[in-house]
Amino acid sequence: MAHTLSLAPFRGITNKHYRRALHTHIGGYDWYYAPFITGCGYPQIHPAKLDDLLPADDMQAITIPQIISNDAREIIALAKALHDAGYRHLNWNLGCPFRRITHKKRGSGLLPYPGDIAHILETVFQAEIFYTGTVKLSIKTRTGYYNPQEIRDCLPIFNAFPIDHLILHPRTGKQLYSGQADAAHFAHILEHANHPAVYNGDIHHRASFGKIFNHYPRQRSWMLGRGALINPFLAQELQGIHLPEEEKRTRLAAFHQSLWQHAQENIPGESRQTGWMKAVWHYLSGMFTESQNVFSTIKRAQTKAQYTAAAEQALQQPFALEAEISSHFHRLCQ
Ligand SMILES: Cc1cc2nc3c(=O)[nH]c(=O)nc-3n(C[C@H](O)[C@H](O)[C@H](O)COP(=O)(O)O)c2cc1C
Repeated sequence: MAHTLSLAPFRGITNKHYRRALHTHIGGYDWYYAPFITGCGYPQIHPAKLDDLLPADDMQAITIPQIISNDAREIIALAKALHDAGYRHLNWNLGCPFRRITHKKRGSGLLPYPGDIAHILETVFQAEIFYTGTVKLSIKTRTGYYNPQEIRDCLPIFNAFPIDHLILHPRTGKQLYSGQADAAHFAHILEHANHPAVYNGDIHHRASFGKIFNHYPRQRSWMLGRGALINPFLAQELQGIHLPEEEKRTRLAAFHQSLWQHAQENIPGESRQTGWMKAVWHYLSGMFTESQNVFSTIKRAQTKAQYTAAAEQALQQPFALEAEISSHFHRLCQ
């Protein structure tokens, strides 16, 4: 049976231009989660909040929008606006670990409060748009904010509602993205969740995927995160598709060119344009041997011309071996 692979959302990186470029030039994903929208308001959604999702029919890549909120009215209002725009699915982020989000009891900051989560879900599923399944609701979460007992306390609540699926990243909010994801906690979800579960965490090459898959041989649905930003071919490779090196280089160059074109057309100012590309290369440099040298050359570029020269040089470097990709990934987790 084939695996279902989705791209994790990355606020500040995987915007609609990134998603479209990845889908067009490389692909391998069944769907793409959009980075979170927060503070969208209700009953009217601030139009700028929908920029990354419109127009929906232009999205060749199947996109699932995501919200961070602790207010059911906002979740319902966004679902209605997205439905009007052509979407049929909304993901609720209960995983974001960043302090500016969690200290407002949002993202993973809500996980220590199962009563609040129950109240929000009750109100959400009283709204016609959700109880009729017109818009499906899925949840992306962690094992907890402070500790893994929190997800155990939340599961019976999730189970009481017709949630479409549950995506688990097995770190706590306090861990941020450091250390290791503890795949063992996924076992509890598989055993006790009424809903299909999707695994997300630390998959960055075939070996790391194989290790987790061996633990859960019946699991078929995976979300790829930083590993996919490092190696845009990861989804294909996990599906057993290995392109010849020359074709990989051509596709990678086209993918990069699309991103750079978007930056120049849509981001104001040279330094912000190169800044966005540097955020991309923070991960993408790991696709090459000598990833640290590749990234420091890119980082030094200040002007468009310097950036173009640095990127051209980088794209010609030898591709990294799996062990080198692993080292790059683990440096990101320090
Ligand atoms: C810079 C950055 C931005 C992120 N933005 C989001 C986001 O908007 N929504 C979300 O659900 N997760 C977000 N994440 C978390 C990732 O989607 C993913 O869950 C995380 O990287 C763990 O998966 P991995 O170990 O495969 O990378 C972000 C992570 C990082 C490092």
